[in-house]
Amino acid sequence: MTTHTFFQIFLMLHLVGFVLFAGATIINFVTLRQFWQQYELEGIKAKTILQSFSKLPVLGRIGMAAIILSGVGMMAMTRGVFGEQIWFRIKFGFVIVIILNALLVGRRLGLNLRKLMEENKEEITVKINKVKSNLRMFHTAQLVLFFIILLLSVFKFN
Ligand code: HEM
Repeated sequence: MTTHTFFQIFLMLHLVGFVLFAGATIINFVTLRQFWQQYELEGIKAKTILQSFSKLPVLGRIGMAAIILSGVGMMAMTRGVFGEQIWFRIKFGFVIVIILNALLVGRRLGLNLRKLMEENKEEITVKINKVKSNLRMFHTAQLVLFFIILLLSVFKFN
């Protein structure tokens, strides 16, 4: 196998990782919208929707790992040449932000929401509304970050 083929395999893995990570984020976003609609109608009973997508973060993390490993692989194969380019440096900054946002903020908000739903009280509305608006901000940030990273990766502005 030639070096070029290896590079293409890494690139494919990179894109599969991207599909998993971005896909998990989008499914999460869409399912949460359904959850909120159901929550308006039947309150605490809507928690069954949350249980149905509890494994989604695992998919996102597998995607994240694939992106990082293949990205490092491509960097090694090109002897870090991209590392000297401005688009890549900016992209890398955004990659750090999107990963930290997912692992620290998104994970914590998801856990908070599940915990509140387990409390089984009807008077949790204030806390729930706070989590709802934070989750909306979190997803908006993630989707904007994905768009910027994609833009930089494809157009490679210098
Ligand atoms: C959320 C994180 C990331 C996303 C969404 C992403 C997305 C992409 C996409 C869509 C491409 C294909 C561009 C093209 O072929 O035109 C690409 C290429 C590439 N990415 Fe990433 N990437 C991410 C993280 C990383 C990381 C962490 C690294 C390095 C450690 C990296 C290194 C590279 C390299 C070296 C290329 C190949 C550039 C080329 O040959 O055209 N990426 N990335």
